[in-house]
Amino acid sequence: MADKNIVPRHVAIIMDGNGRWAKLKGLPRSAGHREGALRVREITRFAAEQGVRFLTLFAFSTENWNRPKNEVNMLMRFLTQFLKGQSKELKKNNIRFLTIGEKHPLPDFVLQEIERVKEQTCDNTGLVLVLALNYGSRQEIIEACRKISASVSEGKLFLKQIDEKVFSKALFTDGIPDPDLLIRTSGEMRISNFLLWQLSYAELYFPKKYWPDFRQEDFKKAISVYAKRERRFGKVDVY
Ligand code: IPE
Ligand code: IPE
Ligand code: MG
Repeated sequence: MADKNIVPRHVAIIMDGNGRWAKLKGLPRSAGHREGALRVREITRFAAEQGVRFLTLFAFSTENWNRPKNEVNMLMRFLTQFLKGQSKELKKNNIRFLTIGEKHPLPDFVLQEIERVKEQTCDNTGLVLVLALNYGSRQEIIEACRKISASVSEGKLFLKQIDEKVFSKALFTDGIPDPDLLIRTSGEMRISNFLLWQLSYAELYFPKKYWPDFRQEDFKKAISVYAKRERRFGKVDVY
């Protein structure tokens, strides 16, 4: 296990580049997503071994519904297969499974699997694996504003009580600490509507590799880059 002091408590990953990986190999995009799902298994196990406490993976964004219907269906199928195949391993490795994102637009067969795996792993005390599914940060923030406004108009909350803590609690990520490290694979350097509030002070890391090529040693490298970063949180260095 790596040094506890330098291992990020929460790593968030935008798993990007499945399609380009497949294209480069002359394969259909589905091959990229299939290979990508294998990396999810490996990286989850490895993150747990390294002592990471929370791992949030961006699996499907609110904007990904705009992809061709057959790709959306395929992603939903892969997701269900992944959950079916993973539940034993999650249990064995003491990993707790959670999701963030708007659940109701997801197909029933996906929702059933999500609920089953969540329930099966709810007592696990090791790594918390958070899958962002139908997740969009702007939508999350708007939803939080609605919840808070409702509490104010019902007289349960005073305007002056609204602070960062109250706001954080109204997000999907209630109870999950902010990410320390954000990794986005494939060389793209954008956030794509992921955890806009929560990433305020995360260290950002953009490896060039496509997600299906992102292996344990690449994750290890990300952690070692993180360990060398100086996080100041607006303060000055202590010499
Ligand atoms: C990431 O890979 C997986 C999802 C967004 C679900 P992409 O499918 O975005 O792959 P590229 O970016 O087209 O290469
Ligand atoms: C972000 O990747 C969403 C996921 C990884 C699930 P996209 O490939 O959808 O993002 P853009 O379109 O390149 O910004
Ligand atoms: Mg992409």
